[in-house]
Amino acid sequence: RRRLVILISGRGSNMQAIVDTVRAQSLPLEVCAVISNKADAAGLAWAREQGLDARLVAHRDYATRAEFDQALARQIDGYQPDYILMAGFMRVLTTEFVERYSGRLLNIHPSLLPAFPGLHTHQQALAMGVQWHGCTVHFVTPVLDHGPIVAQGAMPVLAGDTPDTLAARLLELEHEVYSLVVRWLAEGRVELDAAGQRAIVRGVSHRCVL
Ligand code: GAR
Repeated sequence: RRRLVILISGRGSNMQAIVDTVRAQSLPLEVCAVISNKADAAGLAWAREQGLDARLVAHRDYATRAEFDQALARQIDGYQPDYILMAGFMRVLTTEFVERYSGRLLNIHPSLLPAFPGLHTHQQALAMGVQWHGCTVHFVTPVLDHGPIVAQGAMPVLAGDTPDTLAARLLELEHEVYSLVVRWLAEGRVELDAAGQRAIVRGVSHRCVL
């Protein structure tokens, strides 16, 4: 069984989708811990109710980004995870942290990267007038929201869409895409190439969800 640690900052719906997928499909994965940087994250309470090991590493308790990242890494390393999955984890991580987990750290971002890195992706999409929006699961590298793409989900933008309607519709797709990637992780299909430039997913015909 491969071991997962999930990092969250808030609602945790992607974390829930991951946990539900592991359970429903009896995947050979163990969610060792859910770690939040915020005490009031709703996802932390949910994880606790589910009997998961739910931990708080509050960024506010640390004077610098580096110290927070070191504390987070100490927690993570205690679980010896194969993969660390960021699911609505809203802290920028230091290069040192990212490199420590090279090839094992994944994130979901609410846009079709490389379009719209950063925050407010739905607003950015509407402002740009794109007609397709989506989400990306990618390996995390030191450049924010630029790591090698593992899978993407795409959906049309509809007349009358607002940032909120887009976000709500996309969230469903995010859950689907992250669940798919988690299944691939269970099946041992996913790898970062030696140069750290490309994600490899063995034995699948496509890596997009519509
Ligand atoms: C999701 O839409 C996720 O893609 C986004 O935050 C939301 C978290 O929702 N992540 C980022 O913007 C990362 N920069 P959740 O807590 O319900 O999974």
